[in-house]
Amino acid sequence: MEIYTPRTYISQSKLEEHSGVSQGRYTLGLGQEAMAVTGDAEDVNSMALTVTHALLEKYKIDPNTVGRLEVGTETLVDKSKSTKTVLMDLFPNNTDIEGATVINACYGGTAALLNAFNWVESDAWDGRYAIVVAVDIATYARGPARPTCGAGAVAVLVGRNSPLALVDPRERATHASNVYDFFKPDHSVEYPVVDGALSQVCYYRALEDCYTKFCNKVDALNGVDQSSQGGSKDGDHFDADSADYFVFHAPYNKLVQKSYGRMHFVDARRKHARKLEGKNLFAEEKKAEEDDESDSPIAKEYLTKPIEDTYSDKALEGTLKNVSKSSYNTRLTDANAASKIVGNTYTASVFFGLASLVDKVGSRGELTSGKTAVVFSYGSGALATMYRLHIRDPTQSANETIGQGRIFTIDEMVKNLNIDQRLASREQVHPQELDLALETRARMHRGGAPYSPVYPTNGRMFPGTYYLNGIDSKWRRSYSRVPLDSEPEPEGTSTHLAPPMVLRLAKREALSTPVTGVLEVLTKSVSGTALDKYADAKARVACVITGTSAGMPYGDEIGKVFDLPISKNW
Ligand code: ACO
Repeated sequence: MEIYTPRTYISQSKLEEHSGVSQGRYTLGLGQEAMAVTGDAEDVNSMALTVTHALLEKYKIDPNTVGRLEVGTETLVDKSKSTKTVLMDLFPNNTDIEGATVINACYGGTAALLNAFNWVESDAWDGRYAIVVAVDIATYARGPARPTCGAGAVAVLVGRNSPLALVDPRERATHASNVYDFFKPDHSVEYPVVDGALSQVCYYRALEDCYTKFCNKVDALNGVDQSSQGGSKDGDHFDADSADYFVFHAPYNKLVQKSYGRMHFVDARRKHARKLEGKNLFAEEKKAEEDDESDSPIAKEYLTKPIEDTYSDKALEGTLKNVSKSSYNTRLTDANAASKIVGNTYTASVFFGLASLVDKVGSRGELTSGKTAVVFSYGSGALATMYRLHIRDPTQSANETIGQGRIFTIDEMVKNLNIDQRLASREQVHPQELDLALETRARMHRGGAPYSPVYPTNGRMFPGTYYLNGIDSKWRRSYSRVPLDSEPEPEGTSTHLAPPMVLRLAKREALSTPVTGVLEVLTKSVSGTALDKYADAKARVACVITGTSAGMPYGDEIGKVFDLPISKNW
């Protein structure tokens, strides 16, 4: 596996301060520490090029030995022209590569991975590698979802000699349904339409459905009776403590913590149901059995209550947090380490989890043969799948002729991933850069063609990063790569990531902020010094007065008052 995230990031605690929300809202409330930020010089194509090229280089993969390349992304750059086709520039002498780009919110990468698994296991497999790329720049309009932005890409090499393998393809369980929790119907903006509260419930529903089916399948494959009639001990049934590790799609860490608690809830309910259904008890005996059930800290009423009535129950949530806490620390902390400081990466999120697990646990030498990890991937709309991987010592497979039966190891993955050191070498930028970057990206989105990115490249990006040169008048994008031997600027040497032009436009935009925005801005510091703040305030008050006298705002449709001049001396 190889990962990529932009070199610049913002701190969530500084974002709290900057946004004027209560301290702890993003760090404790959402469980996030930092978030990757990129301007208009990167798009999903460039990030996919970066991560795929690095994968080929680090693992010394000859591009001619790749027979399948499939991308998962939820960002449509050129709509019908897929990101997969852009990646073909990395395979100059090899046009015989199957696969396309798969779209379904955060699930596209998993769909691509399952396709790759199926190909490698099928009669169509010709011994070559498959590469799966998951890539996204997660963006949200201003509002509560904005702290859950992020950016990243992961490339996964799939073959038969991997140290990570599916335990049994028959175990995997899927949840597919039709919900409008998060989608992108407005093609004039990069942002999704999102119902945050609904998206959380949809995530829980998908998780519980996948997990229940997954447990049933694992039990059935292991010959464990579903009821207790066959004499199976409860310890034989698969539960939330049965795997060594769990890897979840992680839009923000708090959701993962709560979701793991919900898995323990499902376990308790299943156990209770087995107890009641497994024995032909008379009503009084059943009652006695229930009364006897003192081994679960989860109040009995919850074990039979319709599960839909439990999603917003804070008391239950608290209990589940306590029940799952120590297991979470052992089984999920390592997988979540990267996404806490990179942010949501949509399709790449679950793969960042896997990479983080390999990096952390593997570097401690604990990812030994036989260890298992259950992976849960969720994409809004909704599609979700749960599957299980195990660590193994691969042996050379006879028919992998093209890769010469090369063996890959966890140690090699750990060495190449090197996530801690790479993330620690990023540059922290001011939290205002998030808004500036997103506004610039929005301008690029509206601007169409031709377009030349204005954000800096060399010096502000990691060596080997691809960036967008521009979009020509025929809408064709071209990319360049930061030289591998280039030196990024040391942290603290540059003031802004956003170029002066973007700062000027932001200033202009701020001065023409609608009245509600102005009032909000007046209550908090905008610029560094008190004098600046005063000058800003004066300009804004003038704007409010002019706006009011012009009859603004009206209804809930608030437009711009004037396109005010940039100078404060008016
Ligand atoms: N200190 C500590 N905790 C705080 C503070 C504070 N100062 N302020 C708020 N909180 C807590 C709240 O109590 C709440 O805790 P809880 O989750 O235990 O109830 C938590 O922070 C979140 O606050 P809310 O007011 O409930 O929600 P918020 O308005 O911050 O929005 C949301 C959160 C809905 C996740 C939003 O960020 C969003 O819409 N994100 C995008 C959608 C998303 O990621 N969905 C997930 C699945 S779909 C996908 O992957 C895209």
